[in-house]
Amino acid sequence: MATGASTADLAIILIDARKGVLTQTRRHSYLVSLLGIRKVVLAINKLDLVGYSKAVFDRIEAEYRAFAQQIGLEDIVCIPLSALKGDNVTAPSANTHWYRGPTLMNYLETVAVEDAVQGRPFRMPVQWVNRPDLDFRGFSGRVVGGSVRRGDRVRVLPSGKESTVARIVTKDGDLEQATAGHSITLALDDEIDISRGDLLATPDSPPGIADQFEAVVIWMSEDEMFPGRRYLLKIGPKTVGVTIATPKYKVNVNTLEHLAAKTLHLNEIGVCNLHLDQTIAFDPYAENRDTGGFILIDRLTNNTIAAGLLHFALRRSQNIHWQAIEVHKKTHAALNGHQPCVVWFTGLSGSGKSTIANVVEKKLHALGRHTYLLDGDNVRHGLNKDLGFTEADRVENIRRVAEVARLMVDAGLIVLASFISPFRAERRLARDLVQKDEFCEVFVDTPLSVAEQRDTKGLYKKARRGDLKNFTGIDSPYEPPEHAEVRIDTVAVAPEDAAELIIAHLRGTGILDA
Ligand code: ADX
Repeated sequence: MATGASTADLAIILIDARKGVLTQTRRHSYLVSLLGIRKVVLAINKLDLVGYSKAVFDRIEAEYRAFAQQIGLEDIVCIPLSALKGDNVTAPSANTHWYRGPTLMNYLETVAVEDAVQGRPFRMPVQWVNRPDLDFRGFSGRVVGGSVRRGDRVRVLPSGKESTVARIVTKDGDLEQATAGHSITLALDDEIDISRGDLLATPDSPPGIADQFEAVVIWMSEDEMFPGRRYLLKIGPKTVGVTIATPKYKVNVNTLEHLAAKTLHLNEIGVCNLHLDQTIAFDPYAENRDTGGFILIDRLTNNTIAAGLLHFALRRSQNIHWQAIEVHKKTHAALNGHQPCVVWFTGLSGSGKSTIANVVEKKLHALGRHTYLLDGDNVRHGLNKDLGFTEADRVENIRRVAEVARLMVDAGLIVLASFISPFRAERRLARDLVQKDEFCEVFVDTPLSVAEQRDTKGLYKKARRGDLKNFTGIDSPYEPPEHAEVRIDTVAVAPEDAAELIIAHLRGTGILDA
């Protein structure tokens, strides 16, 4: 509904006269209002089952209007209906002689919907760079705001370059002017760099550019939102990486109260800050649904998990710049005499990660390499002592550790990271934070039964007794790696030999000299 409604001019909210205004009615109305739909038909259906009672109709109408007013919906027409019997669908009905308003079809055919985007500043996201031959280069897309004429100046975002419209090409010939809703190809006077996902706009009233936002997020997935996990954000034709901060609040759709929230579950609506990994051009959703509305996508399943509306850019995104540093990774590494990298050990508790990582570190040390071992049990005493073992806390645990590992790679170190790190998404995040050839995932593959039998810390026994909740492998999931660079079968391979395998791999990939 959220994605469908984002292009609608009017919403029909259906009510069962026997049930009246439900939570579902309120949620849908709230979404309608959020998504910028201003006209509502309240279709009060199944009136035949309540004896065409005017009292029932009036009660529902009054209750609905009171709620709708609080969320800014004012243009509401209430129609008494029986879809089954046909009352007031196309023809007025004698059963509701007390009703003087229009029938549903009559209303839909005559209601005036103003075209909100027409008068707005020109916007066109580039869907496709059209280059049929060397003489022609055009930028194709749909105008989603305002209009454009031949000879107009246009600005390309986010690059900020400008040019003049030379031609407006369509399949039915050239146009002098195109308005919102038209699909066109623009040819420009100058050869400037434009790619798919860029936004063409009028320089008189350009969109904003930012990488951090406050936004409304409508969560649509069975899996809860994990603050700190990396998702994809798709806005028009552009897709970028995004992390969501802990919600500022979520909304109780019945009372419209703002509630504290650590996450969002299925159907929940909250306000959160977003951090994108690239700057984008945007408008607040209230000004343009196309350049201010987005969806969120799970990077592993490709499912759409949320819809959202941009409120505004956070000031800090303009004020915090990346500090250009002159002594960088290469300089550090040159002094150290080796390539920096992350060797990431993942596996169940008691699988042998730390034991093997320790041996690897000793061997690297003996070779004169600069290393640092980050270990779950240790990091959780300091940097991450505020975190427990819920899924959300584990996501945050690994996010922080991955960032620390990245800094250490910048410092030129070989970082050994030993964490259960049960989720693919966060291991992928750790991998993506450094360069392709700087990450080596080691799957310490020990069957649960073996780890449980070893039970070096006695934790499995506790977990089985029910004295330790959310224990990995018992009542908390572990997602094994699909493409680890190294897999160690600890049943067959001793720690010493496992360490040799890992060192050999680092030699093979050039991280250590042969
Ligand atoms: S992770 O899942 O967030 O990556 P991490 O590697 O930091 O976990 O910490 C795991 C260590 O914490 C285990 O080796 C174990 O000693 C301890 N621990 C305590 N409670 C749990 C639990 N519920 N599940 C897993 N490990 C736990």
